[in-house]
Amino acid sequence: MTKQHNSVPAVSKAQVLQRARDHLFPNRIDVLSYLGVDLVIGQREGYRFKDLDGREFMDFHINGGTYSLGHRNPQLLSALRESLEFADVGNHHFPNPARAELAEKLAQATGLQYCVFTPSGAEANDVAIKSARRYTGRRKIVALEQGYHGRSGLSGAAGDDSVAAWFGSDYPDEFIKVPFNDPDAMERALAGEDVAAVLMETIPATSGFPMPDSEYLPAVRSLCDRFGTLYIADEVQAGMGRTGKLWAVECWGVQPDILITGKCLSGGLYPVSAAVLSKEVGAWLAEDGWGYVSTFGGAEPGCAVGCRALEICSDPATLANVESVAARMGEGLEDIRSRHPFLLEIRQKGVVMGLKFDARDGGMQMTAALFQHGVWAMFAGFDRSVLQWKPGMLVDNQYCDEALQRFEDALSSLTRSKGKANGR
Ligand SMILES: Cc1ncc(COP(=O)(O)O)c(C=O)c1O
Repeated sequence: MTKQHNSVPAVSKAQVLQRARDHLFPNRIDVLSYLGVDLVIGQREGYRFKDLDGREFMDFHINGGTYSLGHRNPQLLSALRESLEFADVGNHHFPNPARAELAEKLAQATGLQYCVFTPSGAEANDVAIKSARRYTGRRKIVALEQGYHGRSGLSGAAGDDSVAAWFGSDYPDEFIKVPFNDPDAMERALAGEDVAAVLMETIPATSGFPMPDSEYLPAVRSLCDRFGTLYIADEVQAGMGRTGKLWAVECWGVQPDILITGKCLSGGLYPVSAAVLSKEVGAWLAEDGWGYVSTFGGAEPGCAVGCRALEICSDPATLANVESVAARMGEGLEDIRSRHPFLLEIRQKGVVMGLKFDARDGGMQMTAALFQHGVWAMFAGFDRSVLQWKPGMLVDNQYCDEALQRFEDALSSLTRSKGKANGR
């Protein structure tokens, strides 16, 4: 493919959109264009990117935390480049130095024992489910009604299962759904002592980051202990420092039996995700070394990036910055909310944030309004009244203030146009 001098592919945005409509996902292109969004991302650096036409955006979507440490973070890029000086993906039958190091680091960081590396978070959840079934000899999995764990077979059935059902891949007898923040419903679901595991996002992202009540997660942990059920914490979005702790479960003092991580672990540069298992739950790894095999899971360059990403996310200076960004954003948004009642509720733990608006599709309306103001932030797929507001972990005060200004400008123009539409 021909390149421009700045290495961005020399192709027009219209051409890319047409190819995507013809050969990728026509419906997605239709939905995005309904919102006025015709984004094709070109240059990207830190927490900003440009579309192919050169329009710059602040990135408040960061692919669910994939770019928590910024696009093309220089330290992560050099870890990748150093690895590629001598490595390729490696041979998946063998350990490699980066894979072994990252496994040890993740075990130490979680208090668990074994790591199974997968290319995607969805497959890591699949591994978790299979491990729980193998360990307990039970088949049932209890998950949240509006959870999201990826779109592979088992992870898809464990999440909100409308899409799984659409593909004929739901298993309602085996994947039991309960409402969030309802310990009684959880108790009823586990009481039969036939559930292998509870699989939960610590803060459910796709339903708009509703916060767990202070007692909820510890209650689920103790119900699991009582009924012989394992606790799987899906930390693909909420983990890796975004709450101000390395793992979100730490905020509620919960130790899972299995922890799932992904997205940020890859630095947004080379796919890598992991299921981290306790010694007991991962005992199958000592019995059958080929029980899970993946050509690209644990590829050497991804693990090299993962080691560096985990170091940066665990660094007290990074976690301190998360706290300071969280405070500045939280205060700024509260201030805006006092002037704009359309912004109903601010949900926040560190830089994990969901903003609920006073309309069923209010989050979606804000996605469109922010797009016009040079900010890319996405509504929550399972609750379109909520906007996911995901600042990067390393942003500075100036970046926060600029984003808050753009946010208020977008909100003002949205409420003005709604006022006009209502004849006010
Ligand atoms: C909480 C959670 N779990 C799992 C996944 C699936 O990860 P992947 O897209 O890498 O399969 C996602 C992706 O958005 C997620 O948000």
